[in-house]
Amino acid sequence: MTMQRIVVAITGASGSIYGLRLVEELLKRDCRVTLLTSKAGLEVLRYETGLEWEGTTFERRQLMRDYFGGGRHLEHVGSDDLFAPIASGSSAPDAVIVAPCSMGTAGRIAAGLSGNLIERVADVALKERRELLLVPRETPLNAVHLENRRSCRRCRPSTTGRRAWPNSSTSWSARFSTTSASTMPSSPAGGRKKAEGQS
Ligand SMILES: Cc1cc2nc3c(=O)[nH]c(=O)nc-3n(C[C@H](O)[C@H](O)[C@H](O)COP(=O)(O)O)c2cc1C
Repeated sequence: MTMQRIVVAITGASGSIYGLRLVEELLKRDCRVTLLTSKAGLEVLRYETGLEWEGTTFERRQLMRDYFGGGRHLEHVGSDDLFAPIASGSSAPDAVIVAPCSMGTAGRIAAGLSGNLIERVADVALKERRELLLVPRETPLNAVHLENRRSCRRCRPSTTGRRAWPNSSTSWSARFSTTSASTMPSSPAGGRKKAEGQS
């Protein structure tokens, strides 16, 4: 059976733990995961978890593999690498999940800016009709946030109290990653297209 290819992007909103738990859950389910991190995402990750994924893309890739137990189905691509295959509609992954999703990234996705690889893969997911799941983190939401959320196909709001992070939200984040992983398409998009008789 062909493995599902899922992109997980961690951006600079609070709640990086959701992204980490989601990657763990997807790897357990034998998905091929591409992990993208924005610059702010790495900074907030360090602030919230103490993880220092710094250095060159190669070094960061190694640190991530060490963290996730060497998962051979995990790859990391720099968010400035617009030449990565996943930036193209012909290599679109089965699903893209931005968790946590900053309001900045949500707004840029809603506007179709595609200024970095995270925004581009989200754009590709929308145009190729693949799953796009945003996990926005902001409270309260202003009118711009609400409008941006409406523009994107699907949003899974994160309702965890921010002040309570991280201890009291650990089980919530585990539950989130399990349910998000289980909402992913059960077969790769190529397979679905064939089954639906599309070219
Ligand atoms: C500790 C910390 C927590 C933050 N939490 C949030 C948040 O929950 N939601 C949000 O939209 N932005 C948050 N920000 C602001 C974003 O990091 C900032 O807007 C950044 O430019 C987002 O960049 P990105 O979308 O490229 O990751 C936070 C920043 C810091 C330093």
